[in-house]
Amino acid sequence: KGLDVLAKKAGLKYFGSATDSPGQRERAGYEEVYPQYDQIMWESGEFSQTTPTNGQKWLFVEPTRGVFNYTEGDIVTSLAKKHGMYLRCHALVWHSQLAPWVEETTWTADELRQVIVDHVTKVAGYWKGQCYAWDVVNEALNEDGTYRESVFYNVLGEEYIKLAFETAAKVDPKAKLYYNDYNLEWPSAKTEGAQRIVKMLQDEGIKVDGVGLQAHLVAESHPTLDQHIDAIKGFADLGVEVALTELDIRLTVPANASNLAMQKEAYKNVVGACVQVDGCIGVTLWDFYDPFSWVPYVFNTEGAALLWFEDFSKHPAYDGVVEAL
Ligand code: XIL
Repeated sequence: KGLDVLAKKAGLKYFGSATDSPGQRERAGYEEVYPQYDQIMWESGEFSQTTPTNGQKWLFVEPTRGVFNYTEGDIVTSLAKKHGMYLRCHALVWHSQLAPWVEETTWTADELRQVIVDHVTKVAGYWKGQCYAWDVVNEALNEDGTYRESVFYNVLGEEYIKLAFETAAKVDPKAKLYYNDYNLEWPSAKTEGAQRIVKMLQDEGIKVDGVGLQAHLVAESHPTLDQHIDAIKGFADLGVEVALTELDIRLTVPANASNLAMQKEAYKNVVGACVQVDGCIGVTLWDFYDPFSWVPYVFNTEGAALLWFEDFSKHPAYDGVVEAL
């Protein structure tokens, strides 16, 4: 019993859930839920993989140039080790939750190259050998498949992507190196953009092992099974593995029988596609417990995106995932 047990039977490496370090996750009024939360997270057999939701991001690990702090990241990475779970590490180079000093300085190309090399060397070096995978570059693309403007792109162009992967490959040769982004779960200009990034790295002989489909989806307007299969195959055909790395499927609150039924079908489709395409190796929920979801903070009228409600009863979508596995 447990989603991970079913996922392994279905041929996946893992079914997992991201979780926040206590320093980040503590919410006033929720202290009493942690025993039950932690039981499901670490002990229940539902999950055999985790990702630190925030603790390895630039803002936390290098808040000041050359000053590294691994405290938040370590909380989740050491729990992963303690419970023998796969660890996905997240995220080395990203325009968001970036330390302000990176954006506030006017860099020459050489200086910014050094900043990236130092960051990746230190951070990937610190967790060397512990990460099944690293999200090396996160969210480099716009919806139309062009590159997103960021301090990295504006100063270095696509070279920053090559530099990040090259450096990560040197520092932690055993970690699978992923490009990770959202809205890659159905064929589009953006999925073509991500394929272009993979091919660029491959053409240059730079190690790239996977594409992470974040899979922040919407219950009321979800893709079909076939659309998901096509998108996943598009990446797998390039010879890289695919994972659903941040799965959640939000709905317009309040939850009711109708939007929960759509959510169930949406979860079933996307997990089912991962099971059906050989190159898709695992699924990570972006937390499993609704009160700890990022969704209501970012999408005002939406929520209930995960598989466990506030009272720890399961969404109908839990059964959708079981059916897909
Ligand atoms: C989110 C976290 O869940 C929030 O706690 C945080 O405030 C913002 O970031 N894409 C990503 C994740 O790659 O790192 C983001 O996580 C969600 C979108």
